[in-house]
Amino acid sequence: MDQAITGHRTTLLEGLPGKNGLYGQDILAVSQFDRENLDYLFALAERMRDVVETDGGVDLLKHRVLAALFYEPSTRTSASFIAAMERLGGSVIPITQGVQFSSVSKGESLPDTVRTLEQYADAIVLRHPETGSVAIAARYAQKPVINAGDGTGEHPTQALLDLFTILEELGTIDGLTVAMVGDLRFGRTVHSLTQLLLNYDVRLRFVSPEILRAPLDLTNKVRDAGYDMRETYDVHDVIGEADVLYVTRVQKERFSDLAQYEQVKDYYLISPALLERAKPKMVVMHPLPRVGEISYEVDEDPRAAYFRQVRNGLYIRMALLAAVLCPA
Ligand code: NCD
Repeated sequence: MDQAITGHRTTLLEGLPGKNGLYGQDILAVSQFDRENLDYLFALAERMRDVVETDGGVDLLKHRVLAALFYEPSTRTSASFIAAMERLGGSVIPITQGVQFSSVSKGESLPDTVRTLEQYADAIVLRHPETGSVAIAARYAQKPVINAGDGTGEHPTQALLDLFTILEELGTIDGLTVAMVGDLRFGRTVHSLTQLLLNYDVRLRFVSPEILRAPLDLTNKVRDAGYDMRETYDVHDVIGEADVLYVTRVQKERFSDLAQYEQVKDYYLISPALLERAKPKMVVMHPLPRVGEISYEVDEDPRAAYFRQVRNGLYIRMALLAAVLCPA
């Protein structure tokens, strides 16, 4: 390792709380995280914020290459991984604008595609419509594979940035009441965030129409772990107690029956009138894209944190890439 990188490592990666433990690992599910590596990542993400704000970036991952392979649409996840890698001095092979321009359209299998890309890259970020496919890719790849969303399964890096946002906005995670609103059945960000929150002392509220209730295995996990949790279809039931209102889009692309989608697509609207009943200090979050579930007038409310949340995605993904690619 050259002198410059050693120097940056001293300032950036040393003296952090917790423990890394992610070096060389695939990032597939939030079950890989515990308080130790979360503390490490969040402290590193804070440092990444400073680095970006002062210098725009740092050459920690110079000459390192990330392959970004997206079999599903993405704006924030793909753009933030690219920005994160580039602000750390690395570069990206972006196969994000539709795999139709890659050999996938010629019928190449996922295992062959990842075994090809890892010949050029040091890690692969993968988004795929089928739950479990990222884990399959990771079995074939020698290099770390990072899950950027697999079907209705998990979206671990989103959950990390969500949790980091809660911490940044409210200063703590322990003791909070977190209400998830919307499509809790198909929304993978909810699946990951809920499980990640089980590392903390929180109360959980699940707000959805009946057909979009959170999967039973998820709610059972929460209940079995002894958490104070409640399910309701009415957001008014939780608005007064929520410290975090985590709103999600109804995942149209996951419905086999579009008539069912039509029935529930406008079920919730977070409006200024609703927020009048909320705590003065709380946050409204959304993984985005929103398609009507939060009114644009809410954007003016200081409690609307969703664009700050987007920004935090950059810092968390910088921290994660550093943790996976730099020996601690
Ligand atoms: C989410 C996703 O892809 O699961 N988007 C994101 O990564 N920020 C949420 C969504 O698509 O609704």
